[in-house]
Amino acid sequence: MATNRTFTMIKPDAVRNGHIGAILEQINAAGFRIVAMKYTRLSQEKAGAFYAVHRGRPFYDELVDFMSSGPIVAAILEKENAVADFRTLIGATNPEEAAEGTIRAKYATSIGENAVHGSDSDENADIEGSFHFAGTEIFA
Ligand code: CMP
Repeated sequence: MATNRTFTMIKPDAVRNGHIGAILEQINAAGFRIVAMKYTRLSQEKAGAFYAVHRGRPFYDELVDFMSSGPIVAAILEKENAVADFRTLIGATNPEEAAEGTIRAKYATSIGENAVHGSDSDENADIEGSFHFAGTEIFA
């Protein structure tokens, strides 16, 4: 069942490069409502747990190091068809393949340092949102 919610992180590269404001503006302009948001830094342990599904992949250690290398913005977003529409808004994982105007085409520098995360299913949106936010931090 569609939850109309997705989960995102503005990753350490985009934060370091000063793109928080522009990315949030593009997200709002596309019709997403922010229902939860925090500025935080993941420990190696938390980054490893968040991306546990990728454990064993050749890029896993690099991904965990990168995602814990500096602050991130984590948020839960609400919109009809949120998961699919947000993935369209951010573009392909590899910025070289991301459509023009998408967040990754504009702000990502490589497949590893790709500016933003977006959930790939309603189920994962729910799991990932709960990983970062308590119920009292979500404002429907
Ligand atoms: P994300 O959408 O956050 O989900 C998993 C992340 O793993 C992905 O974005 C990329 O940042 C990273 N990733 C996926 N494939 C590769 C790869 N081939 N090399 C490095 N990082 C990757």
